[in-house]
Amino acid sequence: KVADLKGLKQGQLRLAVITTAKYFIPRLLGPFCQLYPGIEISLQVTNHERILERMNNNMDDLYIMSQVPEHLDVNCHPFLDNPLVVLAAANHPLAKETNIPIHRLSSEPFIMREPGSGTRRAVQNLFEEHGVPVKVKLELGSNEAIKQAIAGGLGISVLSRHTLLSDAAEFSILDVQNFPIKRTWYMVYPTGKQLSIVARTYYEYLLDAAKKFVEQTEQINASVSVPE
Ligand code: PGA
Repeated sequence: KVADLKGLKQGQLRLAVITTAKYFIPRLLGPFCQLYPGIEISLQVTNHERILERMNNNMDDLYIMSQVPEHLDVNCHPFLDNPLVVLAAANHPLAKETNIPIHRLSSEPFIMREPGSGTRRAVQNLFEEHGVPVKVKLELGSNEAIKQAIAGGLGISVLSRHTLLSDAAEFSILDVQNFPIKRTWYMVYPTGKQLSIVARTYYEYLLDAAKKFVEQTEQINASVSVPE
């Protein structure tokens, strides 16, 4: 019976996720815990580089990240888009413009994530590719702090669109050429690692939850101010 099966699913689930996943993974854990009350969870939230270190040391059951590790032998399962967008304060002058050339960003003060961040690497790669010299006004090791700095009028930045899940109204997504940077969420674990029943249960749950989440984010995108 289903109830008996649920009761059987007991034990620990150790998850490690990159920083921008914290905007949706904890929310999705609520219903999961209700479904499987016997499962205890520990969740580490850290940047791309630290996740690679954790993976190397086999510290967790499952990893959620948005760039497939190149030098590690892993199983990767994509489950959701993770677009990186240009964020500015809601009342930023560029918020009314459309099709902004990427070079235009070089005259705006830019807020950059810390070294070791996957977001930072992706942003730097794109700017290098297009020869855009950005003026880094401030370097910050937290998406949330970057959002506060943007809202405070300190500058613009590039972050995962998912960082807007709770307070989209305060920000504009600028319509800049070559954006969004397309990234994808992956569930990752080392090849050769046998997933526990608990980890596999979560894996399947997350695939299903991600589908519902897409519908939810579409509603949120509709409420963010973008130029007509
Ligand atoms: P970060 O992860 O926290 O390392 O920037 C985000 C990403 O890699 O997309």
